Amino acid sequence: METPNTPLYIRAALGEQTERPPIWVMRQAGRYLPEYREVRKQHSFLDMLNHPEVATEVTLQPIRRYGMDAAILFCDILVTAQVLGSKLDFVEKKGPVIANPIRSAADVANCQAAPVNEFLPYVFDAIKLIQKELRPKGVPLIGFAGAPFTVASYMIEGGSSKDLARSKGLIKESPEVMDALLDKLVAVTIDYLNAQIEAGVDALQLFDTWTNHLDLESFKRYSLDPIKRIIAGLNRPANVPITVFCKNMGVFAPLLVDCGANALSVDWGVSLRGVRDQIGSSIALQGNLDPQMLYTEDKVLEKAVISLLDSMKDQPGYIFNLGHGMSPDMEPEKLKLVVDLVHGYKR
Ligand code: CP3
Repeated sequence: METPNTPLYIRAALGEQTERPPIWVMRQAGRYLPEYREVRKQHSFLDMLNHPEVATEVTLQPIRRYGMDAAILFCDILVTAQVLGSKLDFVEKKGPVIANPIRSAADVANCQAAPVNEFLPYVFDAIKLIQKELRPKGVPLIGFAGAPFTVASYMIEGGSSKDLARSKGLIKESPEVMDALLDKLVAVTIDYLNAQIEAGVDALQLFDTWTNHLDLESFKRYSLDPIKRIIAGLNRPANVPITVFCKNMGVFAPLLVDCGANALSVDWGVSLRGVRDQIGSSIALQGNLDPQMLYTEDKVLEKAVISLLDSMKDQPGYIFNLGHGMSPDMEPEKLKLVVDLVHGYKR
């Protein structure tokens, strides 16, 4: 159960009213930090993930610099695609590229899941190494995975795509092929997250970034249903909360209320307080400052942060975050301003 020493982030994710909201931000470890770029000079991105001591160093960088209330494991959502046989590379200025995309029922049938403990040992080694540093500091570590729909979209498109044309084509032409691929991803993701819990993460988050491309019925079948099956399949102590991030939460949040998650991470496209008033306080909320605000002048940024904090002032179960991730060209000092405002906020 929760004790007085339970970290703010865990208490808020479990639905408690905290003295002030905890803060962490998506992509808090990344290229906008000079200390990350310094490490990155020596390694490719995949190389960084493969070396637990390097993954540990970059996971800790935003904790050291800002005193974030939670750390997120440095990894990527596409490792579960690798487990199913995707040949993944990260290409400079292009992002992820998969050399053997899924295009047919036969391609899906050929996907054989490798045992996660043997295939991704470095992820679990990194978790153990990170926790040696974080536990004494009382900072919780968030583990994560991509949700099946978003990971499947990369496997099908062969990389990033602005419209998910092939994935949506597959849904319309051969929905059973999509279902079969998602079934395999559900099984791998359950194993992967259970192994993260076993290795010692304090919380989990599922990322379903590209749900903004789905209509309501497709969302239910290809995003919500797999997410529910994953959460139901976890061996998760009650004090290890799980959060679901989706885009287009303004539409999808009411459907996610009873998906089994402790918290929803809300994108920037909707009023966070509006979502709370619509769905109630049975589930915690995380979000949702528009990341673009980090490009505005200090006064404008400050006003937006305070206005978001004030809108959730009397609400239990609230975690401050961005409505999506940090971008490489953002100034570290802007994020410091945000963190300091949240840390100094009195309910
Ligand atoms: O700090 C953190 O948030 C933890 C680590 C993390 C990364 N990616 C590191 C990363 C997490 C949680 C992710 C999740 C992820 N990865 C998502 C879902 C969340 C989101 O941002 O929508 C998605 C869609 C991916 C897939 C992915 N990984 C893409 C499209 C790219 C290329 C993006 C780009 O801007 O080049 C990545 C690479 C990636 N993942 C980087 C980092 C720090 C950049 C790597 C580098 O070149 O140094």
